[in-house]
Amino acid sequence: MGTVGRVVTIDGPAGVGKSTAARGLAVRLGWFYLNSGALYRAVAWNASRLRLDPAGPDDRLEAARDLAERIRFELDDDGLTRILVGDAVPGDALLTEEIAEGASMVARDQSVRDVLLPVQRGAGRSGDVVAEGRDMGTVVFPDAEVKFFLDADIVVRAQRRFLEYESKGRSISHEEIIVDIAERDERDRTRSASPLRPAGDAVTIDTTDLGAREVVERMIEHVASVIAGMGAEVEENR
Ligand code: DC
Repeated sequence: MGTVGRVVTIDGPAGVGKSTAARGLAVRLGWFYLNSGALYRAVAWNASRLRLDPAGPDDRLEAARDLAERIRFELDDDGLTRILVGDAVPGDALLTEEIAEGASMVARDQSVRDVLLPVQRGAGRSGDVVAEGRDMGTVVFPDAEVKFFLDADIVVRAQRRFLEYESKGRSISHEEIIVDIAERDERDRTRSASPLRPAGDAVTIDTTDLGAREVVERMIEHVASVIAGMGAEVEENR
C-alpha cells in the first residue's frame, strides 16, 4: 500500500453524522478529507454522462474505469476536497436521489470496488488523510493509525436526515425516512462485497446524544493520544 501518510478512518451507517464529523476533523487537523461515498456517487454520475446504465454490470464497470482515469482531487476554499472528472466538477449533482440510487447499485459490485480501491488509497498522495465511508477501516485502510465507527439510534438518524431534507426544501415523512434508512442499513450490512461492520480495532462512538462538535472533540482527543503514543504531535488548525 504505502501511498499515504497517517490515516484516520470513520465508518458507519447512513445518517450517523460521518460526513460532518469527518469534515470537521479533517479541517481541524489540516488533513486531506476523503469522502469515499462521493466516489461511488461519481461512478453513477459518470455512467449518466457516458449514457451507460448503472444497473448493467458491464456498463458500471466501464463507468468506474473511465472515472478512475479522469478523476482528480482539488482543495476548495474551505480546505475541503473537490472532485473533478476531467475538467467537469460534478459538485451538487452528486447529491440527487437518482445518483444516490445509482451509487447504491454500483457500490454492491465487487469489480467496481476493485477499480476504486487504488483511487482511494492514492487520493491523499503522501499526505495525512481522514477517510470516511463504510469499509475504510476494514478494507481500504486496514493499517490506519486510528479507526472510528459511528453508530446512533435509527430514530435519531432519521430525524437528522429529515432536517437535512427540510433544509433543502424537500418534503418527506419521518416514516418514509426510517423505512429507507432501515433498508439501506440492511443492504449495507448483509452485502457480500465489503459489508458495513466495525473493524476489530475501531473505537465506536454512539452519536445518539452527541452534537457534531462533541463528536469531533472526542475524535481529536483520541487521535491526539494515539499520535502522542507514536512520539509525534498533531498540529491543529482552528
Ligand atoms: O455515504 P453516501 O450516501 O455518499 O454513499 C453512497 C453509496 O455508496 C451508498 O450506497 C453507500 C456506498 N458506499 C460504500 O459502499 N462504501 C463506501 N466506502 C462508501 C459508500
